[in-house]
Amino acid sequence: MEYLNVALPKGRIGNLTAEMFTKLGFKGLDEIGHTRKLILEDEKNKIRFFLVKPSDVTTYVEYGSADIGVVGKDVILEENRNLYEVLDLGFGKCKVVVAGPKDLVGKWQDVNHKRVATKYPNITRSFFEQTKKESIEIIKLNGSIELAPLIGLSEIIVDIVETGTTLKENGLVVLETITDVSARLVVNRVSLKMKQNAIESVILGFKKQLEVVG
Ligand code: PRP
Repeated sequence: MEYLNVALPKGRIGNLTAEMFTKLGFKGLDEIGHTRKLILEDEKNKIRFFLVKPSDVTTYVEYGSADIGVVGKDVILEENRNLYEVLDLGFGKCKVVVAGPKDLVGKWQDVNHKRVATKYPNITRSFFEQTKKESIEIIKLNGSIELAPLIGLSEIIVDIVETGTTLKENGLVVLETITDVSARLVVNRVSLKMKQNAIESVILGFKKQLEVVG
């Protein structure tokens, strides 16, 4: 029997997903969060977990290196990969928002030649060009996005907000919500046919757990 390969994002979403796999009876995930190993394996049940950077999950799944993966909807929208999104896992909830200084509330849309700092250049471009019909300058950063408007690198930012603490502690506010985000199960298109039974049993097992929780 072939292995089922699963891409899990390092961090909270990966840890919660590991709990779901453990409840399905898969072994080998106890080490998650305490190990530098990148592959955890349950030889008996023929499943392998790859621990990857969240923004890379969809890459592993599109190329088929992983048959399935779990990742935030923000990454799915940003990466726009060729794969199936099959299930909303309901955790990892946050929002992708436009944010900026308080004094821009109600007037941020009037700022000319906006510079927008973000780690989501594709979501940002599509929001401004398609929804707002406006061309803007995107400044790509990889983290600490909230710093940009504080030091004049950009007027506004597009970023994820979970508790709102980072915005608040930096004197910024949400100006508009672009989309809600939660963790999703994604599947490689070929794997869904070639490893149909194994994948469907994971989907079904997860659905049952979500019904119990929901
Ligand atoms: C994310 C995001 C915000 C923060 C939002 O950053 O980019 O900065 O979390 O969370 P909050 O609303 O609960 O404060 P992350 O912690 O991933 O670090 P980064 O700045 O390095 O991207």
